[in-house]
Amino acid sequence: MAEKFRENAVILSQEEIAHQIFSMWIENDRIANAAVPGQFISVYSNDSGRMLPRPISICETDKEKHAIRIVYRIAGKGTEEFSSYQKGDKIDILGPLGNGFPLDRCKKGRKIFLIGGGIGIPPMVQLAKEAEGEVQVIAGYRSERFLTEELGQNGTLYVATEDGSAGTKGTVLDCIRENGLTADVICACGPTPMLRAVKEYAKEQGIECWISMEERMACGIGACLACVCRSKEVDDHSRVHNKRICKEGPVFNAEDIEL
Ligand SMILES: Cc1cc2nc3c(=O)[nH]c(=O)nc-3n(C[C@H](O)[C@H](O)[C@H](O)COP(=O)(O)OP(=O)(O)OC[C@H]3O[C@@H](n4cnc5c(N)ncnc54)[C@H](O)[C@@H]3O)c2cc1C
Ligand code: FES
Repeated sequence: MAEKFRENAVILSQEEIAHQIFSMWIENDRIANAAVPGQFISVYSNDSGRMLPRPISICETDKEKHAIRIVYRIAGKGTEEFSSYQKGDKIDILGPLGNGFPLDRCKKGRKIFLIGGGIGIPPMVQLAKEAEGEVQVIAGYRSERFLTEELGQNGTLYVATEDGSAGTKGTVLDCIRENGLTADVICACGPTPMLRAVKEYAKEQGIECWISMEERMACGIGACLACVCRSKEVDDHSRVHNKRICKEGPVFNAEDIEL
């Protein structure tokens, strides 16, 4: 089993990069060295009333600076608390958790779509850095954009916005069609309706497709079954058509799960 680390780590920086969306760099040698793109960390609250950690994807790692980056949207009390932390504060984290995207399917010579929707965009930053094939990032936003600079540095960036304020007006799939893009493999993360549409598109086009699911979690380490999704095959652990997103995922071959 891959090693994971529970650490009380120092926050190196915290910045609001879009409305209610924060970027936090956290000093941590061991998680930065062990993580692969698409894995996540569990972030614990300092408020003892909130026992369960919040899962947040690793957006970027910097092995030289011994640091990891998370980018998160304020959704409720937990993420609101995280947004109040300042440089120099300490944060309790566990990771890296789950299984990341398959880098061996993103090798040189392959055309890759990295599709991110909303707060599913952050893990695409590190994946774009590490994928060796021809990276085409398709990022879907409601309106305000974030992480565009980082994504554009490691691939060709295409943008879709719901309100048409930038790029294609519409969805990530509208953007792919409008630009006549093609790929051999898709890696996607975002809201379930987007993942469902991407899975369908991949099937129609005969493209290999990997998706990362960001469902609600509790323990984050495979112990409680709070995060199961329905799978095609029977699970080794519970002998039913279930897969634990925190343990067997969050990245799955789209063919293996029902959305
Ligand atoms: C593997 C994984 C990776 C994730 N990565 C990121 C990330 O990189 N950036 C980011 O901003 N968020 C990410 N999330 C979602 C994040 O975990 C939740 O937004 C967070 O736990 C909310 O905690 P809270 O205490 O602020 O809000 P809560 O008070 O717990 O919830 C506030 C509202 O958000 C809803 N909600 C809570 N969790 C989720 C969820 N997982 N999916 C959809 N709705 C939810 C609740 O139903 C409620 O309506 C990820 C989730 C998973 C499972
Ligand atoms: S969150 Fe407990 S098993 Fe996944």
